[in-house]
Amino acid sequence: MHKKIEDIKKNEGSPKVIKNLFNKKEINKFLDLYNLLPTTVHNKKQNVIKKRWLIDYGKELEELFYEKVKNEIGDFKYDNLKTDEGEIIYGLFQESYNPIGLHIDGGFNLDDLIYKQTLIPLTPVGSTVIFKNRFYGESTNFTIDSDELSVRKLNYGQNKRSNKHIGMFGDKPFSSDDHKKYLGHEKLDNLLGLEIDLVYEWELGSMLIFDRTNLHCSSSKIDGKKIGLTTFTKK
Ligand SMILES: [Fe+2]
Repeated sequence: MHKKIEDIKKNEGSPKVIKNLFNKKEINKFLDLYNLLPTTVHNKKQNVIKKRWLIDYGKELEELFYEKVKNEIGDFKYDNLKTDEGEIIYGLFQESYNPIGLHIDGGFNLDDLIYKQTLIPLTPVGSTVIFKNRFYGESTNFTIDSDELSVRKLNYGQNKRSNKHIGMFGDKPFSSDDHKKYLGHEKLDNLLGLEIDLVYEWELGSMLIFDRTNLHCSSSKIDGKKIGLTTFTKK
């Protein structure tokens, strides 16, 4: 578990959507940057492409991005892992063809004072579900799938797999209405005790900000593929 839980809690708040933060031209700049960057991971099984925003790319755009984010959340440090050379990464682009399952992005260093994370949609269709429920450990995928749970060998930056969320938030079954509406790709039993805080409907130009302790996942809404830019921060 995180060591600075009390300080982490002091910075917590409700998820927040900022509309009209980026104009069309700026969104296109993010997309150009995405196309330019080298691929970090192409997982054909999960059908997902991940690219890291490396510091040698999109310097001008980073200045704009940093100012916009800082304006919303105050001082922060990037916490998107490091390259092999030890350089920081500004963010992670993800192109996905399937919804992403329930997880937490608590990071990989339990000494850190983890803070907020941001999501900027770069394609118009999609939505992200933020739960009221929180977890104070490392980045973890929450699953009850036994094959997933048996995965032990993890590469640098890969999330742990765990089912310890089951029972942690009580035994109230998840709303079957919400399940049908947003989360058909998740097993109902994997959502035990969870309650939705916010469903963020992707809208170009907007940005979602939420705490790194919030459990979250994609909704089942996807139109072919979606591309988003995420940044994790710490204090
Ligand atoms: Fe996430």
